[in-house]
Amino acid sequence: MTAAPRTVYIETYGCQMNVSDSELMLGKLAAEGYVQAEGPEGADVILVNTCAIREHAETRVIGRLGELKRHMKPGTIMGVTGCMAQRLGPRLLDQARHVSLVIGPDGYRSLPALLEGAREGHRTAVTDFDLEEHYADVLPIRGDRVKAWIPVQRGCDYRCTYCIVPSTRGPERSRALPDVVREVQAVAEQGITEVILLGQTVNSYRAGEHDFADLLRAVGAVDGIKRLRFTSPHPNDFSDRVIAAMAEVDAMCEHVHLPMQSGSSRTLKRMLRRYTREDYLACVDRLRAAIPGLALTTDVIVGFPGETDDEFAETLTAVDAVGFDDAFTFKFSPREGTPATRLPAELTVPEDVASARLEALIERVRAGARERNLRRLGEKHEVLVERGARRGEALMARTRDFKTVLVPAEGYQPGDYLTVELTGTTGSTFTGAPVASRAALPMAG
Ligand code: 5AD
Ligand code: SF4
Repeated sequence: MTAAPRTVYIETYGCQMNVSDSELMLGKLAAEGYVQAEGPEGADVILVNTCAIREHAETRVIGRLGELKRHMKPGTIMGVTGCMAQRLGPRLLDQARHVSLVIGPDGYRSLPALLEGAREGHRTAVTDFDLEEHYADVLPIRGDRVKAWIPVQRGCDYRCTYCIVPSTRGPERSRALPDVVREVQAVAEQGITEVILLGQTVNSYRAGEHDFADLLRAVGAVDGIKRLRFTSPHPNDFSDRVIAAMAEVDAMCEHVHLPMQSGSSRTLKRMLRRYTREDYLACVDRLRAAIPGLALTTDVIVGFPGETDDEFAETLTAVDAVGFDDAFTFKFSPREGTPATRLPAELTVPEDVASARLEALIERVRAGARERNLRRLGEKHEVLVERGARRGEALMARTRDFKTVLVPAEGYQPGDYLTVELTGTTGSTFTGAPVASRAALPMAG
């Protein structure tokens, strides 16, 4: 009789890079005979893949680790991976006695061996960076059948003063272009038609003589890829070559998530973002001039040390000037060891001021998006059905410019492309009525 396969449950927090890393970890463990468990109950291995970007992300994980303890059976190995693991290392082992493995983002290759060690009673923290590591030979187990996230770059060489990422993910390194193309070909052969290229500052991609423009052209040329996206770019890395490639590659979607962080040149300087308000707006103009109908979304931080009322007001006017379709908005969260924590204490923005700014910013983004979305009713768009929607008999689909559209479930399934007329909007999402449909490529095997 053969023993039942070992089961592994992975819970993922944070960004798409973490989602992609979890897919790689699952792939690595599947190659060793592990089977994915849908829940933590009774799993042989429980991994929590964590984020360290804001304090809130970490307190959530600490709470969750406590909860997950209840699901452990004798012999279950609990591991913490990702950015918080990298940041805290052995401190996490002290803090959570039921955790036996702490593994940073460059240590997943040794997961199977580390799990064996943990079974023998070892408690280990692995936080070395590996500048060659891309997990190029690991076949990820993907959670999504419609689109694929493809890491093309790991780490970050910028030093934004608020950001923990350079210390949790190490220096920037790009994956060889042929490796990326091979992975995209493989997902296309499985019937996936949309790919999202991932990197911390993805458009600074450079591997040998290839830059991000070459990468976009090469990926866009893969048979079966109908939609190409990337996240997240840095405004300073949009060379003319990259913008030209975006304009010329048919699959390239008309949406860019372009983190602004602040609309004040003075705040941007303290953040060490390396661009001014004017530079950012000029970048937006160049993108829009090259790509008609381009939608823009962004990230903004409020309450960065020293942010005055006037500086915050400049963020609001920049939001209006760009006309973002959406924004992720954050209150500054001081991260241990980052340069921003060394700014004079008197620059700290009081919590109530930061909260009020956050609220005002959200309102400003929402009002602008709503106004623009209302004007779009009646337009016809190609949408890709992603999944069932929470609301009743509808499916969730997306336009090329990243609008969410709810479409009737009947006759369609995830992976289908169809053309819809936008018939209603909540201000942020749309409802759509099909006007013509085109079946997706058949799913292989
Ligand atoms: N506090 C608040 N927000 C942060 N971000 C990064 N670091 C911090 C921090 N210390 C935000 C930025 C970034 C997004 C992923 O998270 O806006 O673009
Ligand atoms: Fe992703 Fe940054 Fe969070 Fe790490 S710290 S998981 S890179 S968002």
